[in-house]
Amino acid sequence: MLTSVDVRQKFIDYFVDKGHSAQKSASLVPEDKTVLLTIAGMLPFKPYFLGKKVPPFNRATSVQKCIRTNDLENVGRTPRHQTFFEMLGNFSFGDYFKKDAIIYAWDLLTNHYKLPKDKLYVSVYKEDDEAIALWSEFTDVDKTQIVRLDKDNNFWESGPTGPCGPCSEIYYDYGVEYGCGNPDCAPGCDCNRFVEIWNLVFMEFNKNEKGELSPLPKKNIDTGMGLERICSVLQNVKSNFETDLFTPITKELLKLAKAESKVSLYVVADHARAVTFMIADGIYPSNEGRGYILKKIIRRAIRHGKILGINEAFLCKICLLVIDNYKIFYNELWENRALIEEIVNTEETNFSKTLDFGLSLLEEIITDKKQISGEDAFKLFDTFGFPLELTMEIAEEKKVSVDTQRFEGLMEEQRTRARGNAVFYKDGESKPKGGEAIVAKNEQERIEMARHHSVTHLLQAALRQVLGTHVTQAGSLVSTDRLRFDFTHPKALTTQQLQEVEHIVNEKIMANLEVAICEKTYDEAIQEGAMALFTEKYENLVRVVKMGSFSTELCGGTHVNRTGDIGLFKIVSEAAISNGIRRIEAVAGSYALALINHKLEIIDSITLDYQISSENVLDKFTQLRKENSDLKKEKTSLLSSILLVQLKTDFDAHKIMINNIPIIIKSMENVIFPDNPKDVLDKLPESTVEFVALIINNTTENKISIIIKASNKLITHYKISAGELLKETAKILEGNGGGRPDYAQGGGKNASQIPQALDFLKKTLEERLK
Ligand code: SER
Repeated sequence: MLTSVDVRQKFIDYFVDKGHSAQKSASLVPEDKTVLLTIAGMLPFKPYFLGKKVPPFNRATSVQKCIRTNDLENVGRTPRHQTFFEMLGNFSFGDYFKKDAIIYAWDLLTNHYKLPKDKLYVSVYKEDDEAIALWSEFTDVDKTQIVRLDKDNNFWESGPTGPCGPCSEIYYDYGVEYGCGNPDCAPGCDCNRFVEIWNLVFMEFNKNEKGELSPLPKKNIDTGMGLERICSVLQNVKSNFETDLFTPITKELLKLAKAESKVSLYVVADHARAVTFMIADGIYPSNEGRGYILKKIIRRAIRHGKILGINEAFLCKICLLVIDNYKIFYNELWENRALIEEIVNTEETNFSKTLDFGLSLLEEIITDKKQISGEDAFKLFDTFGFPLELTMEIAEEKKVSVDTQRFEGLMEEQRTRARGNAVFYKDGESKPKGGEAIVAKNEQERIEMARHHSVTHLLQAALRQVLGTHVTQAGSLVSTDRLRFDFTHPKALTTQQLQEVEHIVNEKIMANLEVAICEKTYDEAIQEGAMALFTEKYENLVRVVKMGSFSTELCGGTHVNRTGDIGLFKIVSEAAISNGIRRIEAVAGSYALALINHKLEIIDSITLDYQISSENVLDKFTQLRKENSDLKKEKTSLLSSILLVQLKTDFDAHKIMINNIPIIIKSMENVIFPDNPKDVLDKLPESTVEFVALIINNTTENKISIIIKASNKLITHYKISAGELLKETAKILEGNGGGRPDYAQGGGKNASQIPQALDFLKKTLEERLK
């Protein structure tokens, strides 16, 4: 039996032998900006198909990492649906066409993978007589097993626009027992009998925005065979999840699972692969674009883990297993294992905390409603981190609908709030859009606005240079006196990284780069590498702002003429705003100068006050800190001694005897309390007192402190517990606290209750020590 390793290798070897150049899988984050994720093996080669770039080879072959999430809810429910999969492909860029593509595919399947010919069916686009003739003449496929299918089945398009063409698909017949029983059951039927294993696309057209087809400069071939599908056929199993690509993962999951659910088992196995590969390619959980897809997949996996009865954190463990299983082919998994571990752990910890609350809230909502309102779905999203799709999935299981329209409305309102204002991707001026209003005064403010605006572009490019190209804009605010930039990145920036980013931006300012603005078609701009927001809809003609060769962005805002006009840039703060999203606040131009001057003034006034030079400020503060800490220590020991003396002085007056046991239960006013009251009580010998309860009322600070200490004898013989008594006492004083049986500490708020508290303690002891 061929293992998945053999299947990959045989495929590549076959096509290399036929003159193809073996290409490494491209990233799941495509360079092509028409899709969020790499959905097919052809995507990295799109510029070659379109004739926009000259390919360095005429033939190529690859095993491409792909993600498709359009059928997310079907994953685990059918034998074939997955999010992550590997696509085996061979490609011709204006070299061979239909005939050779057909011959190669048939030869590889029947002579090398040795699939029985009677099990193979072929579909062709209904108008493609040429393909029918080629299959009949150049292969020995049974002619009765060739079917014509319509455009929906046999015309392949990579998206709403772009290269496309008729295709021919090869199906494997699993046998009549897997069929729907319909006498018309044939390739193209939705049941599990005929499984499409290989798609040969005869890519000869380009589709424009109006849906019109025009011939491509050259005729090409794009083929794709899902590795998991061909493995399930070759390994003679019923489902992709039973192939050796999944079994190590499902085996491990079964060890952890306490409940049985095939669907959940497969969902988690599939999602763990997707999550691992996505993070390795620089995608981080966020609320937008592919980051949101990742977040959705992670949270869905965690929920299905729960259905499997796994109550501990598990996803990270499974992702590490995925890394181990796939690292020989995909070194990036191994290189990014620490990051994968960190992100999955954080997400799992965060989501697990709210999952139970969210689920019980959802249960409540569902009990008394037929429809989950947009407000409730939004609350689940906003407060409990439930992606809408998760709420919908659970709702569907309970046969309840969700008001998704209202949800989207609320989401949009939140986005608008988050963006604040100054959506600078709109025509011309930077316009306020809700949030904090900008009052556009008179010329100076316009310049300051342009400075903050332009420097945001430099900041984004510098962040990508220092942190990596996973950094994308997640929100932005530009005003006359500051900027705020939100971006995807999994962890806090180090001081060094922040300094580096700031330094690069200032360097680019000093380089006085030209800010060139021109209009282009969207496609052209994107091909040239312009940064765009996935959440925005762009017109076909877009405004491109280029700062030297350092930054290119689509943007409609007001800009400076040269980067030197920005003057200066200074980062004010960096923080997390949600999981995987960081925020930098910064200032430019005269505001940056004002900030720096302000900081220098502070230093100047310190040097004046302390009569030291600015170089000595740090040393001086280190010395002062040490002196301060020494003084604190002295104060504590002094306060302890005072309290001890006070206690000892009053001792006999306050000591009471219960059942011949010496006890102190007293309140004191305005005693200055040391940090370590236990040390003080420990200095009172047990022979003279077996139980001490002090309630200290600090009237100036409006604070009541309670401390209780019990001897070992009281704990063991009379079952007295300082911790338990403290809890009750604190309750009477409307506060809280607790501790161990021998010592406990707490606080209260209501001083008028002190007599009751003392009374309670006294009565309890009288009761217990009888
Ligand atoms: N692009 C085609 C597909 O994804 C063939 O690879 O099916």
